[in-house]
Amino acid sequence: MNLRRQLLARIRRFLTPPENTEEEFHSKYYYSKVWSETYFLGRKVFKCPGDLWMYQEIFWKVRPDIAIECGTFQGGSALYFAKLMDIMEINGKVISIDVDPMPDLPFHPKITYIQGSSISNEVVDKVRNLVSAQRKVIVILDSDHSKEHVLKEMEIYNSFVTDGSYLVVEDSNLNGHPVHAAWGTGPGPYEAIEEFLKTHSEFEIDKSCEKFMMTFNPNGWLKKIETKNK
Ligand SMILES: C[S@@+](CC[C@H](N)C(=O)[O-])C[C@H]1O[C@@H](n2cnc3c(N)ncnc32)[C@H](O)[C@@H]1O
Repeated sequence: MNLRRQLLARIRRFLTPPENTEEEFHSKYYYSKVWSETYFLGRKVFKCPGDLWMYQEIFWKVRPDIAIECGTFQGGSALYFAKLMDIMEINGKVISIDVDPMPDLPFHPKITYIQGSSISNEVVDKVRNLVSAQRKVIVILDSDHSKEHVLKEMEIYNSFVTDGSYLVVEDSNLNGHPVHAAWGTGPGPYEAIEEFLKTHSEFEIDKSCEKFMMTFNPNGWLKKIETKNK
């Protein structure tokens, strides 16, 4: 091969990303476990930075008065949502639910923690009492990631989501989308979303929320369609 052809081949390789670059990066990122060492103001947040930024963009657009989060863990994400509300001067509330919350959860006047299973009647009643009809609500599902549990959460919490706002189903990247395929973790959030959408045409997958190319929530940013005659 002469020098010119070699050079052209090099340029072509440089300009053409290898196939599956996004999936490869996603897998590399995921299996490095760096997501479990990601902090917001010193608190662990099990999310990737692009998704945290996407929440920021959604909060700015929607200006939710209430964020309901299933799955508190160390409270890093609840604190993040509360601080977003602070920065955006939203006089709102974050309701964060966990069956087995960690000790020393961060205090913030906007956060209410509820202990119990997200799908128990007792917990759902408590949430209902905290949410009044006039408020704009976003729901984030990040607790037990089995299909069965996520689907139950979706059926319960979708009615809290207000028009134009979001039902975010976290960790739909599991079960081979693209991570943990070989492990066979079994149907998870991704499959729950597929099932849910068969009977909930009022929600649509907002692919624009995947613009950072890697999201832990593929097909999981569900927007509730705005009905004009309300
Ligand atoms: C992935 S972690 C949450 C991560 C957190 N949202 C964050 O971004 O850092 C999942 C949490 O869900 C909780 N969990 C598991 N099953 C649950 C259930 N049935 N109801 C409520 N929380 C549950 C676990 O105790 C765990 O703390």
